[in-house]
Amino acid sequence: MARPYNFSAGPATMPESVLRQAAAEMLDWHGCGMGVMEMSHRGAAFGEILEQAQADLRALLAIPPHFHVLFSQGGALAHNAIVPLNLAGRHPERAMDFVVTGGWSQKSAREAQRYGDVHIAASSADEGFVCIPPPQQWRLRERPAYVHLCSNETIHGVEFHTLPDLAALGCDAPLVIDFSSHVLSRPIDWDRVGLAFGGAQKNIGPAGLTLVIVREDLLGHALPICPTVFDYRTLAEQHSMANTPPTWAIYVAGLVFRWAA
Ligand SMILES: Cc1ncc(COP(=O)(O)O)c(C=O)c1O
Repeated sequence: MARPYNFSAGPATMPESVLRQAAAEMLDWHGCGMGVMEMSHRGAAFGEILEQAQADLRALLAIPPHFHVLFSQGGALAHNAIVPLNLAGRHPERAMDFVVTGGWSQKSAREAQRYGDVHIAASSADEGFVCIPPPQQWRLRERPAYVHLCSNETIHGVEFHTLPDLAALGCDAPLVIDFSSHVLSRPIDWDRVGLAFGGAQKNIGPAGLTLVIVREDLLGHALPICPTVFDYRTLAEQHSMANTPPTWAIYVAGLVFRWAA
């Protein structure tokens, strides 16, 4: 069977060895007599799979201990709403600043407007989204709930090679990044990031899994209207098991983490 060259942004090509391992284990995972899709998410076998996947991702991205690794659902677009639902409450007027460098960050800003006071601190819309406005020219507020940017604009092709140091720009706020389309392709400077989120289907594994990596102090600010299973504190406290997680997607993502290690 010839496999085509597939440059789709997502769902995207998977390592062949991972697909073969998933196929080999489809009916029987490690001798337990059933496949991962069939087993209880509360059982010991799946617990092992989840823990290993989180530990491997932590190691791959050198995620510091004061960050939680959450395996959520909904895709990156759902988290365009879930992030403000969790973080906007850090500011009394729900002030959120956005840096818009392409279609995805533009979408994020529009969605966040439903939940608070969105300020576009910088935008390259007038240039057709072909550049990043120099950070020194961003009109950031002093202390918004957070600052959002998309670290790789999949459609417009604009990528941040270095993340901004908000403190040096006079802004005391955590940086939120949508890293959907370049996660695992580079190290992340966690000193500059408060929360990173992204769908797994581009760089990691099957659709259905959404990664959220969030600093401990950013938990616990969810607005009352935030659905409980999307409250990042609940997800952290319940080890990504507030409801049934996307077990198959987590398992395959775990195989990819092992492959990439
Ligand atoms: C940077 C970025 N953010 C968000 C999305 C939307 O993600 P999802 O389809 O997982 O909601 C995509 C692509 O689909 C993307 O490339």
